[in-house]
Amino acid sequence: MPAHPAGPRHEDVIDPHGVPARPGDPAVMSDLDPAIWPAGARRLPDGEMEIAGSRVTAIAAEALTPVVVLDERQVRRAARDYAAAYAATGAQTRVYYAGKAFLATAVARWLDAEGVGIDVCSAGELETAVRAGVPGGQLLFHGNNKSEAEIARALEVGVGRFVVDSFAEIARIAMLADEAGVVADCLVRVTVGVEAHTHEFIATAHEDQKFGLALADGVAAEAVRRVAALPSLRLRGLHSHIGSQIFDPAGFEVATRRLVGFAADLAAEGIAVEEVNLGGGMGIAYTAADDPLDVADMADALVEIVRRECDQAGLVLPTLCVEPGRAIIGPAGVTLYTVGTIKSVDLGHGVTRTFVSVDGGMSDNIRTALYDADYTVTLANRTSGAEPMLSRVVGKHCESGDIVVRDCWLPADLAPGDLLAVAATGAYCRSMASNYNQVPRPAVMAVADGHLTTVLRRETLDDLLALDPGV
Ligand SMILES: Cc1ncc(COP(=O)(O)O)c(C=O)c1O
Repeated sequence: MPAHPAGPRHEDVIDPHGVPARPGDPAVMSDLDPAIWPAGARRLPDGEMEIAGSRVTAIAAEALTPVVVLDERQVRRAARDYAAAYAATGAQTRVYYAGKAFLATAVARWLDAEGVGIDVCSAGELETAVRAGVPGGQLLFHGNNKSEAEIARALEVGVGRFVVDSFAEIARIAMLADEAGVVADCLVRVTVGVEAHTHEFIATAHEDQKFGLALADGVAAEAVRRVAALPSLRLRGLHSHIGSQIFDPAGFEVATRRLVGFAADLAAEGIAVEEVNLGGGMGIAYTAADDPLDVADMADALVEIVRRECDQAGLVLPTLCVEPGRAIIGPAGVTLYTVGTIKSVDLGHGVTRTFVSVDGGMSDNIRTALYDADYTVTLANRTSGAEPMLSRVVGKHCESGDIVVRDCWLPADLAPGDLLAVAATGAYCRSMASNYNQVPRPAVMAVADGHLTTVLRRETLDDLLALDPGV
């Protein structure tokens, strides 16, 4: 499927996802479905939206738009719920937040305070967590190409786990740990031949991807043996990450069965697996079509799968770890944009699509262009009784695939200066932001009890130009 089906002008090829049904009642366009919007989001009596006690117009006035707004209590609650749900299973468990979803020192501190570790995968993510004051032992270090400098820094701060991803890296960590006079705790990242995406998963025998060491051809077993044999490395366990936006534990079930089978083979060689990390990928609701599993149900299901497989294999239950990113921070985020140019295009057969341009776009949310992601959008500064208008929310970048929300219904009286709110943008939006077209990246603001604090300030043109020695 092409990543940018933005060009076609005929309604029969508009959208692989299908246009959402036209709302019968215009009031529906103002609804804030609690399954999609943060708990702190609501409409005030005058129709304006507030998030955790702050009016969207006040947030926009202070932070300018686009701005990513995080409902702080929701992030904390999600982390707490995750830790509690896994603890309640009675098994030894550990939850790490996948920092790639979005990381700043404030977020790292919230999560640390809620008892959740952090998975980092670069020097920048590592340094953010360290400077937030997160103890090194609470960090897990991922990455398929960790540099010597990154490994040395990770050893210096005493990261709790290295997730090793290649033979070259095993040698590199062993050498640097040896030089530093420390022993590095390692998990081996295993590709188990399961690819999960939303409601589907595919179980295959072969792997064709950059991450991990394949189970199928014995490479993972050889990696485990090497880690176990090196005096400056300590094998702690196995890691597997099967995909993203997963709503069905079936993919985890197959992955776990393969991992536990592998652990049993290793036990026969005298190599113990104390820890099994099943990665992240727990899905969230971007639109009403998404139906995420309850966190406690998912925790129970995963522990049950591991317990059953270990019982069958005669293994002691290992510590079970998970690494949710999106599920902790995604639903807490809302991006506010200001509406600019509004342009209607006749699609033929009496169908008109209105392109609503906003003051951000693919530089603050690449997911629609990259993954054909769907989002929910609403007019935020007011409600409207005007008729629904088939709309496409687009950015201001020089790219026809610069789409924020592909197909949505917005009130026909939408006007320049109105604010649009896009839900569930806490994960993989600001963290994947770019300066395409020399556009400054947006601020991230936390709201709680009507107070607004800066998590990341908005970039300025001076920030951008500071990198250019010719200025
Ligand atoms: C190894 C690993 N763990 C955890 C995650 C987090 O995934 P999600 O944010 O979908 O939970 C990812 C995402 O790519 C990942 O690669």
